[in-house]
Amino acid sequence: MDNYFELKISINPQMEDIVSDICFTNFACEGVVLAEETYKDLVMTSTTEGTLRVFLTDLNKNPVEVLKTEREILKERGFSDEELGSWDITLNEKENQDWSKKWKEKWTVTHVMDKITVVPSWLEYKPKKDEIIITLDPGCAFGTGTHQTTQLCMKALEKYFKAGQSMADIGTGSGILAILAKKLGAADVYGCDIDDTVIDVAYENANKNGVTDPVFELNTADKITKKYDFVCANILHNVLFEIMGDLKNLLKEDSILSLSGILYEKKDIVLEAIKRENLNILDTFTQDQWISFVVKK
Ligand SMILES: C[S@@+](CC[C@H](N)C(=O)[O-])C[C@H]1O[C@@H](n2cnc3c(N)ncnc32)[C@H](O)[C@@H]1O
Repeated sequence: MDNYFELKISINPQMEDIVSDICFTNFACEGVVLAEETYKDLVMTSTTEGTLRVFLTDLNKNPVEVLKTEREILKERGFSDEELGSWDITLNEKENQDWSKKWKEKWTVTHVMDKITVVPSWLEYKPKKDEIIITLDPGCAFGTGTHQTTQLCMKALEKYFKAGQSMADIGTGSGILAILAKKLGAADVYGCDIDDTVIDVAYENANKNGVTDPVFELNTADKITKKYDFVCANILHNVLFEIMGDLKNLLKEDSILSLSGILYEKKDIVLEAIKRENLNILDTFTQDQWISFVVKK
């Protein structure tokens, strides 16, 4: 077995998902382990919170250089040093001990809502009556269902999506939101992403869930001409700011747009874009430090 590389990055815990996303996009990254906490008698005795452990199969790019550049980009987009954390990096080569299982051990059945549960494809799970099960193997794609930003979109889908509607998922990752829409009775689902490595993963996940006719492709919202009844975009606030007009163009008169991926303290940036595009806020969901907006034309 080949050895693997473990990258440890010192971050502000609030940046976990953003830094994970950068690693999945740029590196031969097989998984990440976020804060690890050890408890004794219900008291936390140790934590690695603030250290993101990233498992790489190969050093295809120089992690120090890539992370330095990406950190600068985030700073230009308004993140402060305090918000980002230092991003100090250590890199170690490790002997392979079937390490790809390590991160899988951390991910278990996630009850997102009363009736919506995400189950890792390698676990057995007996669903309750009427429970919607999404079986997933996210591979290197974002979207295990454990992240708040995904769950906020799932909540919007559960509340506003109606059977028979069409759905587009901009930034589809593992395909989890499109798969949920299909399980809620979507007539057709479309997912696109700028990361070509996630497209096959999304198709495989759709297949695992008996979703036979989705369309997943490498694409961006500005190039889509079709209109949808329900659009989800769980992407960083600065990307939402840039593409809000393109997202609006995907909407029919009565369509719904679920915007997630927004840190509470960055919400004003997204609100500015919502106002700029004359969109109206129909609902707001929050979870921990994250907020999502449900908007209409
Ligand atoms: C936070 S993940 C969301 C994944 C999944 N939809 C979920 O909710 O868990 C964001 C995804 O958006 C993709 N992305 C980033 N910018 C994008 C853009 N401008 N257009 C389309 N996809 C984009 C990333 O590659 C990533 O897969």
